[in-house]
Amino acid sequence: MRATGVLRILVALFTIATTWLFASTYFSHTGMKSINVKKWLRSHIEPKQTPITQNKCSNRRLCPEHTFAFRIVSGAANVVGPSICFDGNVLMSNVKNNVGRGLNVALVNGTTGQLIKIDSFDMYSGDVNNLLNFMKAADQGTLVLVASYDDPATKLNDEARKLFTDLGSSHASDLAFRDNWIFLGGKGLKHKSPFEQYLKNNEKTNKYDGWPEVLEMEGCVPKKIE
Ligand SMILES: *[C@@H]1O[C@H](CO)[C@@H](O)[C@H](O)[C@H]1NC(C)=O
Repeated sequence: MRATGVLRILVALFTIATTWLFASTYFSHTGMKSINVKKWLRSHIEPKQTPITQNKCSNRRLCPEHTFAFRIVSGAANVVGPSICFDGNVLMSNVKNNVGRGLNVALVNGTTGQLIKIDSFDMYSGDVNNLLNFMKAADQGTLVLVASYDDPATKLNDEARKLFTDLGSSHASDLAFRDNWIFLGGKGLKHKSPFEQYLKNNEKTNKYDGWPEVLEMEGCVPKKIE
């Protein structure tokens, strides 16, 4: 009699336990489901958080409204071409397949930011007159962006150097064989451009055997108000 009593209690406990287990599993399951539905609704119906937008030209700093963002990178030795980005558009790069050894130059309307023209000029074996003719298109208010690749200077003459100096360059007069140079200047600029970097080709300090380290410059250039 006693043994059956104990057995009954055990059976009852077992039933309660399995019921509880089943119920807890079931309810926690549906509970999970309802959370998932909420999540699903949230991700599909509620507006997404504002995405992190990239600054123009991947600049670290967001450029103010009255300026154009730009980024200029020089060539790396004679291996990787330079790149010029202006107002969010890559104007010249290896990928665009429109860069070359020498000087890579982009002319941009300083008021509207519209591209006027681009070209690259071989300064080792090319004709400097091609560069001089190209630069004639730079009217008052034109922005001039320049990136060197390999050799920017062998064929550079006084006339071409003066032209860049007049655009605000501090180093155009010193440019020599395989120096690195990046520059943003403007036709009609009355002072030196703050947007210029220059590295001399120097065996002792060169990063690569025959070439100095790559130069990179980003910034915000004020729009010209007419
Ligand atoms: C820039 O564009 C404006 C509007 O089209 C034009 O009036 C002006 O002459 C242009 N400036 C240059 C330097 O091209």
